[in-house]
Amino acid sequence: MEKSIKQKFSENFKNIPPSFIREILNVADQQHIISFAGGLPNPCCFPSEQLAESAMRVLTEQGTSVLQYAGSQGLLPLREWIAQRYNNKYSLSVKPENIVITNGSQQTLDVISKMFIEKGDGVIVEKPTYLGAIQAMSGYLPQFLPVNLYDDGPDMDQIESYCWNEIPKFMYNIPNFQNPSGLCYNLESRKNLAELLKKYGLLLLEDDPYNEIRFEGDFLPPIFSMAPEHVFWSGSFSKMVAPGLRMGWVVLPDGLAPHFIKAKQSTDLHSNNLSQYILHDFFTHHNIDDHLKRVRVAYKEQCDAMKEMIRRYLPEEVKMTSPQGGMFLWLTLPEYLDSEELIGKCIHRGMAFVPGRSFFTTGEGNRNIRMNFSNSNPETIEKGMKILGEEMKKKVPKTLLNPPEKTEQALKGTSMIQHICL
Ligand SMILES: Cc1ncc(COP(=O)(O)O)c(C=O)c1O
Repeated sequence: MEKSIKQKFSENFKNIPPSFIREILNVADQQHIISFAGGLPNPCCFPSEQLAESAMRVLTEQGTSVLQYAGSQGLLPLREWIAQRYNNKYSLSVKPENIVITNGSQQTLDVISKMFIEKGDGVIVEKPTYLGAIQAMSGYLPQFLPVNLYDDGPDMDQIESYCWNEIPKFMYNIPNFQNPSGLCYNLESRKNLAELLKKYGLLLLEDDPYNEIRFEGDFLPPIFSMAPEHVFWSGSFSKMVAPGLRMGWVVLPDGLAPHFIKAKQSTDLHSNNLSQYILHDFFTHHNIDDHLKRVRVAYKEQCDAMKEMIRRYLPEEVKMTSPQGGMFLWLTLPEYLDSEELIGKCIHRGMAFVPGRSFFTTGEGNRNIRMNFSNSNPETIEKGMKILGEEMKKKVPKTLLNPPEKTEQALKGTSMIQHICL
């Protein structure tokens, strides 16, 4: 019976890739594994007591109205709060009527995909990109158009070349502390991308859940601020407050909110009303910036610890990114290592991470690893990196461990290379 039911699954549904991360998390949960796999904020930073107070207050003071069905666009005072915060932060003039409250930013990815993607439509994505976005979009059968992502932004020439024939439906990106790489676009890349959007009429889904989690350097303006008519700017309360509330929002170009709302209504009527009231009450009674300061200090400490332990325990040929915010660090392994082989060995020893392949639409990534640093303390990070380092070092080719004595010919070659480089 089960088999015959499965045969009826739609083509769209069958195209959604499974989440390797969720599968690892299941194992991690069961076996008390040291896990750097999940994209989990640190529960030590959840403002549980304040949220409990807010929940009690809204239920006693507002009565049953917070438990009733509600409008699909979301609670107006919460939309006003969002508009005011980001208008102040980036000198914008976002109107609350252009904001829709969602059940987490993952929903925004699904709703935008539902509104725009038809089978075979081009969607530009960074390489690597967020697995949850690949999943959300895959259900609508796009043709992914991957662009290389460098330390300070994507390959603009590649983006432009995708626009030469038919303009892709949209581009999806994560300019701040990307999941999985931790990379962040510099100001010039943001400006260049905004220019491309305007030149080709290309739309951008700017996914920005890590915006507030910058623990080094200065905040940079969103691409939305440079081309507001071309950008759906997606935000989230998951990393800022707590993901279990399942609350996010999207800022849309003028006139688009009613269409977004129609697409969202067909899924869930409206976002969780009680969570919206609790969040708004929390923001009214507490200073979010004090809370965010604590989160940033904790994540910086954890990120620094992870970088140090990587340097201490992993082979020196392993390269890592150096995030200025967010929750992830990205490793690139030398050719003799394979992240999927390593995960098998490490899970066996009680440690988990996500091999890179999940984050590519091209099948690449077996020489990459995503490490989540936000959900571990420095001691656990050290234990985990020691295990990973030991497993990696078992694979170091003998020639690297004991390099053969250099022959006269080889020495000549080296000095020639040095000479050419100088
Ligand atoms: C880049 C990115 N976008 C969206 C999401 C979804 O976040 P949420 O639905 O909790 O707002 C995540 C979660 O990890 C993410 O990393």
